[in-house]
Amino acid sequence: MFERVTVHPFFPTYVWVHDLKPEIYQPLNQRLLKDIDEMTAPRPPLPPGNHSWQTEQRLHEIEEFDQLTGIINGACKGVLDQIEIANDSFIITGCWANMSPPGVFHIAHTHPNNFLSGVYYAQVQEGADSISFHEPRTQQDIISPTTTRLNKYNSLVHQLKVKPGRLVIFPSWFVHSVGRNESDRLRVSVSFNMMFSSYAEKISQPKWSGIPVRRRSSP
Ligand SMILES: [Fe+2]
Repeated sequence: MFERVTVHPFFPTYVWVHDLKPEIYQPLNQRLLKDIDEMTAPRPPLPPGNHSWQTEQRLHEIEEFDQLTGIINGACKGVLDQIEIANDSFIITGCWANMSPPGVFHIAHTHPNNFLSGVYYAQVQEGADSISFHEPRTQQDIISPTTTRLNKYNSLVHQLKVKPGRLVIFPSWFVHSVGRNESDRLRVSVSFNMMFSSYAEKISQPKWSGIPVRRRSSP
């Protein structure tokens, strides 16, 4: 009946996955784990319940993390190029390490006041190797018919597998969560936020011109 049927993914929501080469991530992760461990020792005991250790958020200003900061900056530049953003002047506004013991999970959240956010995985293993992304169209679950198979058109949550050396980048508004650490080891990752460095001065400025207004006080 139809000569052709096409589907157009308007307003797609992307997650960018960057996998480092083993010869890069193996020594990097070894160093990161050692540095994070030593530089946060002695860590305060975690209160009972669902708690991770999170470091301060200025790791991108500390020399020991220069290689990872460079990798994050390079990947963010690639993302901006791919989505063809004109103003590519940006900074990392926060960067911190997460150490999550077995049993710990992270509820759904966003990273406000930033453009891109991401996570680099230094130590993840089976049972602690995923991040979930949640349907951003909040009314989408009001009509929720039974499906024949879950796929990208009908799922409200998408789980992305992660592994050591993987850097995941997503829009900061994209709601995400981390399931319970079902492994018997610490899950160690480094999160970051990125924002345009001259947001108010440049990007917020109107993109159109109106009729000129004569200044009464002009000479
Ligand atoms: Fe997050």
